[in-house]
Amino acid sequence: MLRVCVVIFWAVGCLHLSQADEEVTAEGVSVKIQGQSGGMTIGRTENPDQDKNAVKIKFDAIQERDSSGNTVGTSGSDKHSFNNFAQLSFEISSLQDTMYENLTTKRINFTASIADVSATLQVQTYIFTEAGNITVGGEITKVEKGTVKFNIILDGWTFCTASTCNKGGSGEVGAFVDLTISIKGKGTPSRKTGNNKRTDGEEYDLGGEASVALSRKIIKDNATPEDMPGNYPAFETQGNKQLFVFRFPKFDNRVVYDPTVYAGSADATSGAATIYSGFSLLLLVFVGVFCNM
Ligand SMILES: *[C@@H]1O[C@H](CO)[C@@H](O)[C@H](O)[C@H]1NC(C)=O
Ligand SMILES: *[C@@H]1O[C@H](CO)[C@@H](O)[C@H](O)[C@H]1NC(C)=O
Ligand SMILES: *[C@@H]1O[C@H](CO)[C@@H](O)[C@H](O)[C@H]1NC(C)=O
Repeated sequence: MLRVCVVIFWAVGCLHLSQADEEVTAEGVSVKIQGQSGGMTIGRTENPDQDKNAVKIKFDAIQERDSSGNTVGTSGSDKHSFNNFAQLSFEISSLQDTMYENLTTKRINFTASIADVSATLQVQTYIFTEAGNITVGGEITKVEKGTVKFNIILDGWTFCTASTCNKGGSGEVGAFVDLTISIKGKGTPSRKTGNNKRTDGEEYDLGGEASVALSRKIIKDNATPEDMPGNYPAFETQGNKQLFVFRFPKFDNRVVYDPTVYAGSADATSGAATIYSGFSLLLLVFVGVFCNM
C-alpha cells in the first residue's frame, strides 16, 4: 500500500531587514528601492526600470556646513560630510498598511546609520491608496491614488564645535546639514507656477507628467513648522545630475522633512501597468513526500 502525503510549507511576508533590492507596487505605481545606495525608482510599470517616464531618486550626499555655507568636518577621525551613501548601509523594512493623516497608504522604511556623527537618517516611503488632501506644515497638498510621499527624519546629529572639528588649525562650527538628493524624471525639472500646482508649496515638473512637490517646511525638535533658511530647497545641475539640496538648520535631537512625488503616466515598451499588492512574498512548497505504510 502506498500513501502519498503532500506537505506544504509556506511563509507570507518576509519580515527580514535586508539590503537587497526591494520592490512594491500599489495602485499602479511601483517603487523599487536599491538597498545598496538607498536610491529608488518610481514608475507606472510593474518593473519601474522599464518605464521611460520613471522618476529616479538617489540620496547623493549629506554634508555639514558652517554659517557661511562651507563644508566642515572633512578631516579628522569623525567625518561630518559624506559625498555619497555607498559606504553607509541601509536597512529596508517590510511593507506595512498604515494611514497618513486620514488616508490609507502603504509604507516602507529605509534607515541609514551615520556612526561618525551618531545620526540616523530614516526615509519613510508612503504610497497612497486613496485620494485626498494632506497638510504639510500648514500647506495643503493634494494626493492621488499612487502618489508617493517620503518623509525624511534625521535624528541625533552631533554638530562640529570649535573644539571638536578643525581645519588647518582653526576650529570649525557647524550650522546646517545639507542633504542632496538627485531627482531625475524624463525632462529637466522646471518650477511649476499658477493653478496647475498640486500644493501651496513648491512643485517641479519632471517631464512625463511626473512632478515633485517640495515643501519649504521643516520641523525641528518637535517645534512648530518653520521654513528652511535662505532659498532652500535649492535646485542645481551638476553635469548630467539634477540635484535638490535641502538645508536643515542646527537642531538638538531631530529634524523632519516631507516632500511628495507624483508619478506621471507610464511610457513603457512592455505595456500597461499591472496592479498587484504584495511584497517579498516568500513561498516554499514541497510536494510529494511519500510515506510507505
Ligand atoms: C517605520 O517607521 C515608523 C516610524 O519610525 C515605525 O512606527 C514603523 O513601525 C516602521 N515600520 C516598520 C515596518 O518597521
Ligand atoms: C480627519 O478626519 C477627522 C474626522 O473625520 C476630521 O475632523 C479631520 O479634520 C480630518 N483631518 C484631515 C487632515 O483631513
Ligand atoms: C482638497 O482641498 C480642496 C481645496 O484646497 C477642496 O476643494 C477639495 O474638495 C479637497 N478634497 C478632498 C478630498 O477633501
